[in-house]
Amino acid sequence: MPGGCSRGPAAGDGRLRLARLALVLLGWVSSTSLPSSASSSTSSASFPATAASGQPPLPGRCPPPCECSEAARTVKCVNRNLTEVPADLPPYVRNLFLTGNQLAVLPAGAFARRPPLADLAALNLSGNRLKEVDAGAFEHLPGLRQLDLSHNPLIDLSPFAFSGSNASVAAPSPLVELILNRLEPPAAERHNRSFEGMVAAALRAGHALRGLRRLELASNQLLYLPRDLLAQLPGLRHLDLRNNSLVSLSHVSFRNLTHLESLHLEDNALKVLRNGTLAELQSLPHVRVFLDDNPWVCDCHMPDMVAWLKETEVVQGKGRLTCAFPEKMRHRVLVELNSSDLDCDPILPPSLQTSYVFLGIVLALIGAIFLLVLYLNRKGIKKWMHNIRDACRDHMEGYHYRYEINADPRLTNLSSNSDV
Ligand SMILES: *[C@@H]1O[C@H](CO)[C@@H](O)[C@H](O)[C@H]1NC(C)=O
Ligand SMILES: *[C@@H]1O[C@H](CO)[C@@H](O)[C@H](O)[C@H]1NC(C)=O
Ligand SMILES: *[C@@H]1O[C@H](CO)[C@@H](O)[C@H](O)[C@H]1NC(C)=O
Ligand SMILES: *[C@@H]1O[C@H](CO)[C@@H](O)[C@H](O)[C@H]1NC(C)=O
Ligand SMILES: *[C@@H]1O[C@H](CO)[C@@H](O)[C@H](O)[C@H]1NC(C)=O
Ligand SMILES: *[C@@H]1O[C@H](CO)[C@@H](O)[C@H](O)[C@H]1NC(C)=O
Ligand SMILES: *[C@@H]1O[C@H](CO)[C@@H](O)[C@H](O)[C@H]1NC(C)=O
Ligand SMILES: *[C@@H]1O[C@H](CO)[C@@H](O)[C@H](O)[C@H]1NC(C)=O
Repeated sequence: MPGGCSRGPAAGDGRLRLARLALVLLGWVSSTSLPSSASSSTSSASFPATAASGQPPLPGRCPPPCECSEAARTVKCVNRNLTEVPADLPPYVRNLFLTGNQLAVLPAGAFARRPPLADLAALNLSGNRLKEVDAGAFEHLPGLRQLDLSHNPLIDLSPFAFSGSNASVAAPSPLVELILNRLEPPAAERHNRSFEGMVAAALRAGHALRGLRRLELASNQLLYLPRDLLAQLPGLRHLDLRNNSLVSLSHVSFRNLTHLESLHLEDNALKVLRNGTLAELQSLPHVRVFLDDNPWVCDCHMPDMVAWLKETEVVQGKGRLTCAFPEKMRHRVLVELNSSDLDCDPILPPSLQTSYVFLGIVLALIGAIFLLVLYLNRKGIKKWMHNIRDACRDHMEGYHYRYEINADPRLTNLSSNSDV
């Protein structure tokens, strides 16, 4: 610890203020230029006087592992292996970067301070190995507008994570942007509980997120969108669902998202959009939809979508969309397809398919009638079986008798003599 600094409180007021200003400036310059260990030692040495003299924390103090800039109202605690949120965050903080640490769990009121961090507007918690976010984790942050929870293997996201721990009081959340990209839970833990359901529950709890304008859910391996995922987000402007595994949009409704401006669905597993979805998208007044890099299946279910694509202005870059299946249609451009190109089974034409079905039904009927006849004639059959058995027995006895005759040498001789 530099000696000049520890003498700080004893020195004149003006000199202290000057020194603090210089150090704050130095800290800011170093934190913006290169975040090396040198810069962190500078910033953590900014206010050692308070620690040394045991006074209550001065407003504007910086927690030791972080870099603070009062001028930019920014605190950065980046790649520090922190296991909990620093207790002594400076009250001026507006942008908090708490990234690349090892928080693992975010408990209720993790950012509740006295006085509250009223100015905190942007909170970046990306890459903190967070598995659990508890109810009310973001309580007492009245100015929080942007939250980034990306790159955390969330297994347990409380339904009340964004709305508050007291479920009976649905205070609206101030959040405007919620960034939830790459919340990749390990495969083994994923299937215990539906990840999709967990996220949907947190997004709709208590109607708290009705002010949300941007929602990013990219790269989450989402297999489907729960029906009510978007039901309580009426203010949404931007929805990013890129790079998931969505196969269909049939079960989700976009109808109420009347302010939606962009809908990103690139890099999913969409095969076709059905009439219901097409009508909903068409009814949204401001929307731009992005559909690139999906494995469109150009069969008899596709004509409605192709007809819609030819007309609509909603889809951005619609000329880039191509078929992925079936094989003979691969790389064909969707908007250039004619409905005559789109049939369902490339081996059997539909007319032949129906005749095969008919043949199957006829065969089944014949089989059923045969069994019925057998059943009704069971007495006759029994009798017939007896007759056969008796006939067999008679035959066998006759054979046996002849065999015995043949086996008797005297009779053989007799018969051969008689033949002569
Ligand atoms: C964080 O932990 C990793 C591995 O344990 C280590 O290599 C790294 O130096 C640590 N970083 C800090 C800032 O302590
Ligand atoms: C949050 O931090 C991560 C890692 O530094 C960065 O990639 C991401 O863009 C940040 N998020 C926002 C909203 O700035
Ligand atoms: C929730 O809020 C209600 C109304 O303010 C209050 O009566 C109740 O005690 C609170 N519950 C908890 C667990 O804080
Ligand atoms: C799976 O679910 C069971 C019961 O619901 C729970 O006890 C267990 O901890 C869960 N496992 C994981 C990995 O979450
Ligand atoms: C897409 O998501 C997967 C994980 O779901 C990830 O590994 C991959 O890097 C992502 N791709 C892009 C381009 O973001
Ligand atoms: C749309 O909003 C209306 C009224 O606000 C509501 O009754 C309805 O359930 C919502 N529909 C969907 C699919 O969210
Ligand atoms: C979809 O809508 C179009 C036009 O409104 C209609 O001609 C077509 O039959 C519909 N398709 C289905 C499968 O209902
Ligand atoms: C689609 O039909 C139109 C007219 O019916 C024809 O001019 C066009 O060549 C056809 N396109 C393809 C790809 O068959």
